[in-house]
Amino acid sequence: MKPWSFCHATDIHVGSPRSFRFAPAWNENWQTARKQIIESRPDLLLVGGDVARDGNLHRYELVAVKDDLDALPFPAHVIAGNMDTGNKHTDVDGPNPARNDVALSIRSEHLEPFASVFGPLWWSFVHKDVRFSAFPDMIAGSRLPEEEAFWEWFDAQRKGPRARHHVWMMHSALFIDDLHEPNWDITKPETYYEWYFGIDEPHRNRLMDGFKATGATLVLSGHVHCRKQHRADGIDFHINPSTAFSQWPKRWPDGNDSLGFMKYDVTDKGIKETFVPLERKSRKKGYGPGGHPLPEARDYSIAWEKSDE
Ligand SMILES: [Fe+2]
Repeated sequence: MKPWSFCHATDIHVGSPRSFRFAPAWNENWQTARKQIIESRPDLLLVGGDVARDGNLHRYELVAVKDDLDALPFPAHVIAGNMDTGNKHTDVDGPNPARNDVALSIRSEHLEPFASVFGPLWWSFVHKDVRFSAFPDMIAGSRLPEEEAFWEWFDAQRKGPRARHHVWMMHSALFIDDLHEPNWDITKPETYYEWYFGIDEPHRNRLMDGFKATGATLVLSGHVHCRKQHRADGIDFHINPSTAFSQWPKRWPDGNDSLGFMKYDVTDKGIKETFVPLERKSRKKGYGPGGHPLPEARDYSIAWEKSDE
């Protein structure tokens, strides 16, 4: 076979100066990564969610990213991340009083704008004997009307086409340390981020069963903004880097929070990954709060550009 490649970029967090907050450095970093991705001449690009800074609040941010990806000289296949829709569902708040986790849970009104801009929320296709399947995992356990449709689609993938490799893409990490780790406690400061970045049972097990039944060889995710690889039951799990900003640099001894994206070379021997670091990191200064600010902390009067939306 003729060797070919695909790229995985995630957590690009492209924002807008019309927002209550804006980090021009993250937009510039994405443009640097975008140029490097084009130079690597992949057949296709996978984008693992958190495409926008606040896509769940500003549809115009999603539209801008969609236009940018559509202008690439190869197709980009996209899933939503929690900042594009809403977070993993919870009935109880975490320990940070400035963060209302229950209210941040994903809702149908978050999913609709994303789907209206990017198309189907979950998808599967085959390219040159590699099958690619992807979904926004925040929907698992959400109890939204869309959740039932999601599981129906997920379970139906067992009957999908077989290919030499099956690459799955989701936004969150399926697990943090071990496939069989217990669910992490959202209420404890020392385990809050493990809860936030991973998938709880029983959904973790159901997803893993589906991965195995569909011949998964590689599962890609983002969300953590720190690169870390695991292997479980013969499947490689790659938590891949953000292009925008780093997080959780000390969680794993072998984690790496360098910014960049992943290139995957497909040859007769298999699929081999290469981390491609950003050629340069922007130092541009922006404005506004980080994290998940409460609605009253969103001050649009400080925006650099006026917006009617
Ligand atoms: Fe992110």
